Amino acid sequence: MEPKDVRKVGIIGAGIMGSGITEVVARTGVETVFVETDEERVARGPAAIDRSMGRAVDRGKLEPGERDDVLGRITATTDLEDVSDADLVLEAATEDMETKLGLFRRLDELTRPEVVLASNTSSLPIVDLAMVTKRPERVIGMHFFNPPPIMRLLELVPSIRTAPDTVEFARAYGEHLGKVTVVSKDRAGFIVNFLLQPYLNSAIEMLDEGFATRDDIDNAVKLGLGHPMGPFELLDLIGLDTADYISNVLFDEFKDPLYASPTLLKRMISAGYLGRKSGKGFYQHEEG
Ligand code: CAA
Repeated sequence: MEPKDVRKVGIIGAGIMGSGITEVVARTGVETVFVETDEERVARGPAAIDRSMGRAVDRGKLEPGERDDVLGRITATTDLEDVSDADLVLEAATEDMETKLGLFRRLDELTRPEVVLASNTSSLPIVDLAMVTKRPERVIGMHFFNPPPIMRLLELVPSIRTAPDTVEFARAYGEHLGKVTVVSKDRAGFIVNFLLQPYLNSAIEMLDEGFATRDDIDNAVKLGLGHPMGPFELLDLIGLDTADYISNVLFDEFKDPLYASPTLLKRMISAGYLGRKSGKGFYQHEEG
């Protein structure tokens, strides 16, 4: 299969990543269906996509008419069966192994056997998702970065059961979406999170130990390293719960204290401080 043969794409989950991926896919002109667990989440998806495209319109990157066309190509549903005729499925559900295994089992039953089932997981083993299907050679990781419409990278993660033509298809499809692809082995964290998470954890430990203030650490990284965001701004963007989850998966796999989730991170999560998505993390945010 080639990217031009993909006429309908199913996206599972319309959280921060799922809604961003839905925007990216729908902007290529194809029918895009996203599936969420309840009506409230179904309603939130298009609103987030509309806001995101509004920023592109404001900056002259997108015509207002085009935004309406893109929204018109997106269908929101709570029924997984609505992706049964999709030519490609991108799963971007919550980072929970049991949820993802259940989804892959069901997607395998619903979709045509040759359809590629891709996961946007940021750290879980792709082979585990592949092995609950009857098509492990058609399962691959396609890991987008937050925010998906802006970040150009796409990590491709073939498992030891993924067929070479699936990798080639995923690479071509990623390029069709305007992304630059890199390939990582199926090991926790892939390339980026393997490098990123110890850095974020160290920043939290620095803050907790009173080594420097939040603003000084963020400014040091922005001005001294040229990063667009400091570690605390980035943690709020990623979501503190997601950062904790990734740390735990990395720690589980490598047993290296470098990956241990910091105590302050855990306490903030318990307090409901999850970052931008909850309105407060290391910073206060206007929108929840
Ligand atoms: N479609 C296309 N372009 C868009 C857009 C959209 N929907 N929305 C905004 N843009 C464009 C804007 O026009 C702007 O372009 P110009 O610079 O050419 O004018 C550009 O994107 C930036 O937009 P904004 O001004 O709205 O945003 P900003 O300048 O404040 O930057 C940011 C925001 C892109 C998030 C930047 O701060 C950044 O790059 N931060 C780092 C993000 C990062 O590291 N992400 C990875 C997180 S790790 C991860 O995702 C992995 C994981 O598994 C956890």
